[in-house]
Amino acid sequence: MIKVVVCGASGRMGQTIGRMVSDSSDLQLVGGVDVRPSTFFGQPIVASSEIEAFLAEKKPDILIDFTVANAAVENVKSAARHNIACVVGTTGFTPEQRKVLAEAVTGHCPMVISSNFSIGVNIFWEILRSAARMLKEYDIEVIEGHHRNKKDAPSGTAKTILQILDEEAGTRHKIYGREGVTERKNEIGVHVIRGGDIVGDHAVMFSKNFETITLSHRAYDRAVFASGVLIATKWIIGKKPGIYGMGDVLNLAMK
Ligand SMILES: NC(=O)c1ccc[n+]([C@@H]2O[C@H](COP(=O)([O-])OP(=O)(O)OC[C@H]3O[C@@H](n4cnc5c(N)ncnc54)[C@H](O)[C@@H]3O)[C@@H](O)[C@H]2O)c1
Repeated sequence: MIKVVVCGASGRMGQTIGRMVSDSSDLQLVGGVDVRPSTFFGQPIVASSEIEAFLAEKKPDILIDFTVANAAVENVKSAARHNIACVVGTTGFTPEQRKVLAEAVTGHCPMVISSNFSIGVNIFWEILRSAARMLKEYDIEVIEGHHRNKKDAPSGTAKTILQILDEEAGTRHKIYGREGVTERKNEIGVHVIRGGDIVGDHAVMFSKNFETITLSHRAYDRAVFASGVLIATKWIIGKKPGIYGMGDVLNLAMK
């Protein structure tokens, strides 16, 4: 059995992942970590201040992190000190935090990190990559929508979309929303919607006179991310220390 600890255990993703891990026949939920102690699916959730002792006691094979960026950095550092493999879905890292994560895991543990664990989104990114190559001359707009409690904007998935567009269609200036008298130049417009319980909507529009091509993905349930997390959790066992993406897990071209 693969022993799993979930950081952010009381959160929306932590609860969904905890349920799916505890229902799984080859994974064993051994506990969670969050800001305050609690329980989930018959296992303890300890306060984040107790993480070192908890990891030493439970000896999990995998630490899954869906928290906030600054917490995730500390949680991965703790996991690396105990040589525990990491699956990180938290978004909103600064470039400096990404460097700290990379330094923490180097030589210590493998880590799968992705701004989106949905298989559909990973395939969407691949489709977008080839579309962007063919549609370089088009005006491009990116629109994303999430629930009212999402903390970071634009979403990590939207940032990955922008990175792919830069790589395939050429780097363009980004405009985050428009107001007042504006003149469209060669920028990419980025538009963020926050409301209700939207799980995750992303769309990329390629427009030219007389036509628009829209590529879009809609997640209906957090289970779509959690099921990708479980695939990554089983895949990472036995991998060499280093950083991997869902492209590696799913054997897609994009890394
Ligand atoms: N990669 C993906 O596929 C994917 C999918 C959905 C959400 N996300 C990201 O996952 C993160 C969590 O999303 P959510 O909707 O579950 O948020 P949430 O706010 O519901 O849950 C986050 C949890 O982390 C806890 N937390 C904060 N600091 C902590 C610490 N130091 N140690 C342990 N726990 C701590 C919070 O108390 C909370 O319970 C966000 O960054 C979100 O963007 C990624």
